[in-house]
Amino acid sequence: MTVYNFSAGPAALPIEVKQQIEADLYDWNGTGCSVMEMSHRSQEFKDMADENEALARELLNISDDYAVMLIPGGARLQYSMLPINVSSPQGSAVYAINGHWGKQAIKEASRFTQTVSTAPISDEVYADIPDYDAATLNPNADYFHFTSNETLEGVQWHKLPETNGIPLCCDMTSDLLTREFDVDDYSMIYASAQKNMGIAGITFVLMKRNMIGQSKNLIPTMTDYKTYADTRSFYNTPPTFPWYVMLLVLRWVKAQGGVGAIQAANQTKSSTLYDYVDQSGLYMNKVAKNCRSEVNVPFWLADENLNQVFLEQSSAAGLKALKGHMAVGGMRASIYNAIPLSGIETLITFMQEFERTHG
Ligand SMILES: Cc1ncc(COP(=O)(O)O)c(C=O)c1O
Repeated sequence: MTVYNFSAGPAALPIEVKQQIEADLYDWNGTGCSVMEMSHRSQEFKDMADENEALARELLNISDDYAVMLIPGGARLQYSMLPINVSSPQGSAVYAINGHWGKQAIKEASRFTQTVSTAPISDEVYADIPDYDAATLNPNADYFHFTSNETLEGVQWHKLPETNGIPLCCDMTSDLLTREFDVDDYSMIYASAQKNMGIAGITFVLMKRNMIGQSKNLIPTMTDYKTYADTRSFYNTPPTFPWYVMLLVLRWVKAQGGVGAIQAANQTKSSTLYDYVDQSGLYMNKVAKNCRSEVNVPFWLADENLNQVFLEQSSAAGLKALKGHMAVGGMRASIYNAIPLSGIETLITFMQEFERTHG
């Protein structure tokens, strides 16, 4: 039976990447050992790191105005690194809030700077992006932060936020590499790797070079972007295996035809699933159509008492990890880059049959 893993993260890897990891495990690049057992200062590892950065720059069209950094500590470390590097207790930062992760980000940032949110922060499950008047934002704020795709709620920005000229910073943890965008619109972008860039342990960070090394605060060396930019992320022993897996994923993205081709596939996958859910009598998605996520599709059963049996039967049919986050409830299909269209078709066939027998 083919298993499809709809986990929100750590998430499914492309099969070709797993096959390559298996092939490399005992003898990586003719070295006679695995990449996990080698010095990060070895020439082989440095060559790998060079290819990784070059490929990331090529696929995302990143100019030399930006430093590319690989930082441990997950996206959550960026929630504090960003304010302590770029703002100060006297400074301020604006946060657009439309879901769980944005709320976590502002909570952490408010320990280090004066935060302002674009709309009142609610305990409700967000189903759209609240409107705000950008003209009221202080143009001297140190940065404007938003979460391009809220992974739990399945709410995604399909246009750039208005910032009143404030430098734009973005948590793209769940949608970097899933669609095309213009890096030059941003001052800073970050994404932890375990959804579309490989496995947990490493966070991909892009920052305009002129923003780096400007901290007004005394900060630990390991949380200073300058440390990573100056050493090309080789200051301490980096998470070498996640770094190597990221390169395999980037090669895979290129082999698929690049980010544009991946985006087209993701649009087909998500619209196929939303179309089915929208016409069904048993399932529904509550997110406003103009901000539905192309990579995390939450859906609810009309009768919540059926949730457990739905999860048991779907799992038995090889459709794994469909349970929604406990803060949101219901189901969620995370259909990141590694999930093929056949995964969506198999899921819909299962949902149809379940609706026929339980609807
Ligand atoms: C959008 C977003 N931001 C941040 C995080 C937190 O990432 P990490 O666990 O790597 O710190 C997640 C995790 O799912 C996420 O989806």
